[in-house]
Amino acid sequence: MSKITAAITAVGGYVPDYVLSNQVLETLVDTNDEWITTRTGIKERRLLKEQGKGTSYLAIKAAQDLFKRGNINPAEIDLVIMATATPDMPVATTGVYVATQIGAVNAFAYDLSAACSSFLYGMSTAAAYIESGRYKKVLLIGADKMSSIIDYTDRATCIIFGDGGGAVLFEPNNEGLGLQDEFLRSDGIGREYLKIDAGGSILPASKQTVENSQHFVFQDGKTVFKYAVSGMADVSDKIMQRNNLTKEDINWLIAHQANKRIIDATASRMELDEEKVLVNIHKYGNTTSATLPLLLSDFEHKFKKGDNLIFAAFGGGFTWGSIYLKWAYNKQ
Ligand code: UT7
Repeated sequence: MSKITAAITAVGGYVPDYVLSNQVLETLVDTNDEWITTRTGIKERRLLKEQGKGTSYLAIKAAQDLFKRGNINPAEIDLVIMATATPDMPVATTGVYVATQIGAVNAFAYDLSAACSSFLYGMSTAAAYIESGRYKKVLLIGADKMSSIIDYTDRATCIIFGDGGGAVLFEPNNEGLGLQDEFLRSDGIGREYLKIDAGGSILPASKQTVENSQHFVFQDGKTVFKYAVSGMADVSDKIMQRNNLTKEDINWLIAHQANKRIIDATASRMELDEEKVLVNIHKYGNTTSATLPLLLSDFEHKFKKGDNLIFAAFGGGFTWGSIYLKWAYNKQ
């Protein structure tokens, strides 16, 4: 009997309508379009502005898009994994609410959190369930409402992040397609450089923490940048070597969209031609858990059955890694 592999069989995505352009940011903080464009590659990002709507809203929309595009019946889903760094609320699991709202009535659900690597780690988890034979349809959603934790007076963070959601369905494959290999890493040295100080168990939220803006994301951008460049390039190089892949063998690089310069550095280490490097950071900024599935959603029409995709991500913690996946279908 041939080994069961875990293939992506459908994708979906969603971004909110409101566009926060570099020009608007110029009116909020001391910055300019030229600086943001050359340092990050970002031109605009989407924000979920409606009161009372959280990450679950983005996730539900992305999942519904997947059901429509893939002609999938939500009642057939066994498990929903919600990758996010911005759950609707602490304790009440966001993925559970999402599963119920999308009609995944026969599934159980939970959240998976690893900052910007949440979706990448979620791919590993989803694939392991499929490969083991335990479940047949695993819906992995990556969504973040970053605008809920960003200080729009802090130019070091507010220019980078945006809101969005994406979803993929993993199913068993007996042609050897789907996830081939993974190389996932983490290092607690990163905790000081990208974090939210308050609102957790070390420093619960208080009037004082709010007055000190400690409920917002803090990022030492320069340090994170340095680790991200070497981290993402190293793991991508490693997974190529381990699988005897040359630059010609790789069809697409699906890299976390944090900064165009980090993506370029990774692609350059892999010696990839520009057209193989998928980019949408100029439109959405860094949507944290949603960057990888939003790339799949935007570029699904380009992928051919059997194409070799390399995924790479880097995030807070630090968390990072790469995944090698063979695409399993042609979009009609
Ligand atoms: O997804 C999770 C992982 N996160 C990342 O991967 C993000 C990694 N970091 C980055 O992408 C970059 O570090 C940033 C885009 C955040 C910053 O770019 P940088 O090239 O590292 O800039 P910098 O922080 O070294 O600042 C350079 C200069 C400074 O001025 P001086 O000290 O040289 O006079 C900053 O004060 O640019 C200034 N600056 C700005 N100027 C205009 C910092 N932010 C801005 C801004 N607009 N928004």
